[in-house]
Amino acid sequence: MTMLEATSFIKQKLKGVQTQTGIILGSGLGKFAQERLEEQLRIPYEDIPGFPLSTVDGHEGSFVFGKIGATRVLCMEGRFHFYEGYSMEQLVLPTRVMAELGVKTLIVTNAAGGINPFFEVGTLMLITDHINFMGTNPLIGPNYNSLGTRFPDMSSAYDPGLIARAEAVARSHNIDVRKGVYLATSGPSYETPAEIKAFGAMGADAVGMSTVPEVIAARHAGMKVLGISCITNKAAGLSETPLSHREVKETANRVKEEFACLLENFICASANA
Ligand code: HPA
Repeated sequence: MTMLEATSFIKQKLKGVQTQTGIILGSGLGKFAQERLEEQLRIPYEDIPGFPLSTVDGHEGSFVFGKIGATRVLCMEGRFHFYEGYSMEQLVLPTRVMAELGVKTLIVTNAAGGINPFFEVGTLMLITDHINFMGTNPLIGPNYNSLGTRFPDMSSAYDPGLIARAEAVARSHNIDVRKGVYLATSGPSYETPAEIKAFGAMGADAVGMSTVPEVIAARHAGMKVLGISCITNKAAGLSETPLSHREVKETANRVKEEFACLLENFICASANA
């Protein structure tokens, strides 16, 4: 099975070093691992048996192992999106490999459009819950009993204790954060204003094209999850200007220091908890 082959390949490279915390780096945090991890060990996806290859920017696709303070972390630098054409199973393979490697806490980050009218562009949002609007589920197919149960509970998918800790860390570093519900679509087209209106009525505060598959797979495998969205733009129909990937990248780039500061200090606070 691919998952076990990939895991044993990585374990050989790690020579027994255990990693407790995994991070999936979204837009804007692409350089987080490179800039903030000590004792980096980089394993390109292309070297890992059975791993899908990133279709955007060929070079951005590696697992990066390293340390933040006393904590050993594993970063996914470059993630896979459903709209790139991967199967759901391929999409969640890296998450499952993290679980097999012993990761207990997964931090997922992303860029998202703001549906909540009180969220300014550049806001960091702690995800309290999600709505899976992708029309499919990564657990469809035979269940991997070794990872988890057929029908996993999703009632506290985003760990309340981790959210509280992230809020405390944000407060002590003067970082403004909000909390809200993330809705995932398949993309790659942005939403219509009618869709955004409907998603708002359904209870969504932000919308994006990632994260939900990984979180479902992570919860299936028993990992605790913290999710953070960077609100890079107002969702469709809520601003005068058309949506563009350029705006998304520009905003993500503008708040990346703050985002990285929150992440780094959250990890340090977790080590002492
Ligand atoms: N919609 C969907 N995905 C996104 C958006 C958006 O407005 N912004 C960043 N990712």
